[in-house]
Amino acid sequence: MSFPDGFLWGSATAAHQIEGNNLASDFWALEHAANSRFAEPSGDACDHYRLFREDIALLADLGLNSFRFSIEWARVEPEDGFFSDAALAHYRDVLEACHASGVVPVVTLHHFTSPKWLMGLGGWEYERTPERFAAYCRTVMAELGDLIPYACTLNEANIGRVIRRIVANLGEGRRPRVEQAPVGLGEGPGASQPGGRAPEGHFLSQFSDTAFDVITRAHTAARAVIREVSPHTEVGLTLALQDVQALPGGEKAAEEVWAELFEDFLPAIAGDDFLGVQNYSRIRVGPEGVAPVPEDAEVTQMGYEFYPQALGSVLRAAASAGLPLIVTENGLATDDDARRVAFVRSALEGLERSLADGVDVRGYLHWTLLDNFEWMHGFAPKFGLIAVDRATQRRTVKESARFLGAIARRNALA
Ligand code: BGC
Repeated sequence: MSFPDGFLWGSATAAHQIEGNNLASDFWALEHAANSRFAEPSGDACDHYRLFREDIALLADLGLNSFRFSIEWARVEPEDGFFSDAALAHYRDVLEACHASGVVPVVTLHHFTSPKWLMGLGGWEYERTPERFAAYCRTVMAELGDLIPYACTLNEANIGRVIRRIVANLGEGRRPRVEQAPVGLGEGPGASQPGGRAPEGHFLSQFSDTAFDVITRAHTAARAVIREVSPHTEVGLTLALQDVQALPGGEKAAEEVWAELFEDFLPAIAGDDFLGVQNYSRIRVGPEGVAPVPEDAEVTQMGYEFYPQALGSVLRAAASAGLPLIVTENGLATDDDARRVAFVRSALEGLERSLADGVDVRGYLHWTLLDNFEWMHGFAPKFGLIAVDRATQRRTVKESARFLGAIARRNALA
């Protein structure tokens, strides 16, 4: 069976994790705070801000036809109300490099990081943040919208829910090892540093009902602006969606978890052009809540269960949104690239079965292109299709990249 014509085959990235030197962002400040919870700072990361042409060429040479990347708000608006023409020109260059290589850009307008100045206003609990975000989106889309066919407003609008629901409620001893890299960022008081406190109010520290309201309004405000200034752009957001499985007696609790992660967002995404589905593993829910990973399970470098079958189930469940779906992230952290090949094969088999059953899936964007900065875990987890020697910034294509590229060229699994 082949995939639909125009199926997006590619890889997903985020600015802060690869570009380097995101100096005006809240995360840069968090990384450099005394008592920082980060294993190491992002530094030059993969120097992708300088090397984007090479990286896009590598992706295109593999046979992939789509690149998801994020435009960094902290670069475009490094001070409140000051928009950088130079940063916008840079992202125009990135978009043009994609189009010149026949690569469809899928642009994320916010992938966890925000300008540090926004934290001074209250960050993602400040009631007027939706207007600030929409103003930034207006500028980006007015300048660059002609080159942007797909825009994701917010990456993982439900991340606060994921952290609150799956991790924060559980005691240390019972903590499940589940998909969620940045967990821990939101816990505890902000660390102090010489010039003041580390910023609070960042996207991953937001578990409150107020934050839910701010985040969902930020999406709908941005969508309205994007439709106004760039009507040809398809707009949606992305959600972190684990395959939520009920253990005996856990049926009701599992339904509640799914409602928090997915159903609560349906009013905000009604009328979107697509939904970005991001899946890494499953969680099993018993009467007591989220259960630990089974003792005998294979786990990834992140401690999540190796469970690529999750993708197909999640796509079927997410289809109830009634929107076209794009897999905007799916992947695993491993040093054993053969396991990445096996993961991709199994995940795509599930995706193919969901297509055969009539689920409208438009693309598969593997997380991620380069071994990168995995938030508070630093550079240790290896999620990339391409290895990066950070001393030389030399890239080495892995077998898994060739495997995915060959599928993309055939537009079929075998
Ligand atoms: C995020 C990425 C992150 C990945 C792997 C997703 O939740 O969008 O930024 O690197 O998971 O942990």
